[in-house]
Amino acid sequence: MTRTDDDSWDITESVGATALGVAMARARETAAESPLFTDRYAQLFLDAAAERGWRPPAGVMADRIRAIGNYAASRTKWFDEFFLAAGAAGIRQAVILAAGLDARVWRLPWVHDTVVFEIDQPQVLRFKQEVLAAHRVTATAGYVAVPVDLRQDWPEALRQAGFDPSRPTAWSVEGLLPYLPADAQHLLFERIDDLSARDSRIAVEAFSADFFSEEHLARRRERIEQMRAESAAAGEDMPDPDQLWFIEERDDVGSWLSEHRWEVSTLPADDLLARYHRPLPADTTEGTMLTDFVEGIRL
Ligand SMILES: C[S@@+](CC[C@H](N)C(=O)[O-])C[C@H]1O[C@@H](n2cnc3c(N)ncnc32)[C@H](O)[C@@H]1O
Repeated sequence: MTRTDDDSWDITESVGATALGVAMARARETAAESPLFTDRYAQLFLDAAAERGWRPPAGVMADRIRAIGNYAASRTKWFDEFFLAAGAAGIRQAVILAAGLDARVWRLPWVHDTVVFEIDQPQVLRFKQEVLAAHRVTATAGYVAVPVDLRQDWPEALRQAGFDPSRPTAWSVEGLLPYLPADAQHLLFERIDDLSARDSRIAVEAFSADFFSEEHLARRRERIEQMRAESAAAGEDMPDPDQLWFIEERDDVGSWLSEHRWEVSTLPADDLLARYHRPLPADTTEGTMLTDFVEGIRL
């Protein structure tokens, strides 16, 4: 499926289905012997999507999701810790951008009076709410869904939904940036910056600068072609991730935030994985992920 400037999707299609891929990883981690976190809702989403005709990735794709399981688990844990630390620092307003099937509003021990806004495509948020309501799951914070495309005027939609830009906010940008073109990423951070009162915090999963090196892009492309060939040989049809991603060199998130009055710390993915003792299998991933986990506090 080719991306367009105003494309939209349901949970089982195009970019929407990537949220199911992440939910698969969280369900698997939850069932592990020593999980980094527990997300009892991930499996509910997968079951509900299967009832709607979604078929979980099999074969080469399933192997790939398994291979990056430690990355996905470490990432979830890092964002969980970010929100808990923001609450402990007195922040009572949070915005989860491109929330997908993230169930933090239902599973984290939020400080009382916290309000969490979730932004994603309308059909994605509707699916999520329907599944949780069907299982009578109640939120552990005030929950406000803001169904809007992040390429549209989401700041206005957020304000209309009750967001207060004069209060410090905890923002998360997880699993989103590859799906935005470079200029849309730039606008996203300008808007976040405009809406952020002093002491706001942000957590971002960002491309590392090395991701865009010619050498890495060539190796990555080669690996994708190889996986697609293996998949075709097994009679499967593995979608090309580059049909959904925008491989465009873009602002370095840490530098951009530093230049806009944010105090920033950056943790390369490899260091995050080492922190949780969760290495990546070298045969399928080269043992590394070229992303950074960037945290900022608005000065
Ligand atoms: C890989 S999933 C990640 C979801 C969630 N952050 C997580 O980590 O589980 C990508 C999500 O980004 C959302 N998304 C991507 N582009 C978007 C856009 N332009 N507007 C709103 N949502 C978008 C998709 O709908 C999907 O839920």
